Amino acid sequence: MRVIWAGPADIPKVALTFDDGPTPGITDGILDLLHAAHARATFFVLGQRIANGNGRARELLKRMVLEGHEVGNHGFTHTSVTQLGRSAVEREVAATQQAVYAACGFAPRWFRPPGGAITFNDLRQLSVTDVSGIVMWSLDPVDWSTPPREVLWRRVATGVRPGSIILLHDTHRETLEALPVLIDLLQARGYELVTVSELIGGTPAP
Ligand code: NI
Repeated sequence: MRVIWAGPADIPKVALTFDDGPTPGITDGILDLLHAAHARATFFVLGQRIANGNGRARELLKRMVLEGHEVGNHGFTHTSVTQLGRSAVEREVAATQQAVYAACGFAPRWFRPPGGAITFNDLRQLSVTDVSGIVMWSLDPVDWSTPPREVLWRRVATGVRPGSIILLHDTHRETLEALPVLIDLLQARGYELVTVSELIGGTPAP
C-alpha cells in the first residue's frame, strides 16, 4: 500500500485537498471558485454524508466528477482507524467506496485516514480493499481552527513548494471565504492546481 505525502518537487504543481465534506452550502461555493479559476482539487469525503444525506451531497459528488475534480475516501464515520478493529477498518473504507460509487459512478482511488492517524497493521488491512494508496499531506495551514484569513494565507504562502499537497476542509465557511485569495496567490506564483492523481502522475482523475 503506497503512502503519498507530496508530489514531485521539480514541477510547478500543487494539490488542494478538502476533507470531511461534502457540505451543502460550502462545498458548492468551493466548486464555483475552483471552476472560475480553472483549478482542480481532491475532495476526501465522508461516506455517511453521502449515504445518509438528502441527495444534495450526492449531487455535489456528481458535480465534482463532471468538473474534473477527484473524489477520495475519508472513511464513513470519521472514526480514527487506530481505534477500530480490523474488520471495522475494512467496513469503513468499503462502505464509503460503495457510497461514492453509487453517487457518481467512480470508486475512489485514494484513502486519507481520519485525523491522519494510521498504523502499519491498518495499512495491511487496507490492502484488502480496492483503494490503491494512502494520501497524507505536506502542508497543513490548520484551516479548521479558523485563523484570521491573513494568517491562513501566510501559512500557505510560506509553506508551499512544488508538489505540495495542501490540507483544507470543506466544512468551514471561513475556508470558503479565504479561498479566492489563496487560489490567486498560488496561481500568481505559477503553480497549477491539480488533483492528487494528476500531481503524482499516472492515470488521471477521477
Ligand atoms: Ni477529517
